[in-house]
Amino acid sequence: MDLQTYIELHSDAEPEYLAQVNRDTHLRTINPRMLSGHLQGRMLAMICQMIKPKQILEIGTFTGYSALCMAEALTDEGLVHTIERDDELEDFILQNFRLSPFADKIKLHIGDALQIIPMLNEVFDLVFMDGDKREYLAYYETVLPAVRKGGFIIADNTLWDGKVLKPVDANDRQTNEIMKFNDYVAADSRIKKVMLPIRDGLTVIMKK
Ligand SMILES: C[S@@+](CC[C@H](N)C(=O)[O-])C[C@H]1O[C@@H](n2cnc3c(N)ncnc32)[C@H](O)[C@@H]1O
Repeated sequence: MDLQTYIELHSDAEPEYLAQVNRDTHLRTINPRMLSGHLQGRMLAMICQMIKPKQILEIGTFTGYSALCMAEALTDEGLVHTIERDDELEDFILQNFRLSPFADKIKLHIGDALQIIPMLNEVFDLVFMDGDKREYLAYYETVLPAVRKGGFIIADNTLWDGKVLKPVDANDRQTNEIMKFNDYVAADSRIKKVMLPIRDGLTVIMKK
């Protein structure tokens, strides 16, 4: 047994509707690795149990897995806004939401997060940033004013397969932009932050 399997066996099981999203994503998309998966999904659900957010924003829905995990702990008045740029995923995402207990707790926005966020006119308790890695700094600056004081941003993939330590290619924009984002966040006095080595790196940021 590998360590990952051991960890998953000693954490809550993946609910059946999420296991189905996971399987269908592997069958129907060309880059299923983008999906958060069992452990990170349980971590997101647990964080939501801990901080009890009412308004959640997600940048980068993909097939809906992480949005469904975050919807688990919402109160009656709570909502997950999730934004996906790829309109070809729309029907698949909505089907995945319908097959879960949380279809009415998630609002899908199709389009570019950088254009949609300013139009949402919401104050968020939690933002999960998981879109285009080259746009992380832009998402951060766009979204930080819309996060309440004491609210959180969780940025995914901040270790970027370890490439942040040793970029292989100086022209690799995704690695360069993630490194720039990490350095910027590390030096930002408006927030508190901790980087967790879960999966591909999760940075948890709290607005002071
Ligand atoms: C890593 S996947 C998201 C995975 C998903 N959060 C999960 O954990 O299951 C990134 C997604 O962000 C979308 N995306 C990239 N840039 C975006 C943007 N500017 N606005 C909205 N979505 C974007 C991509 O199309 C892709 O589906």
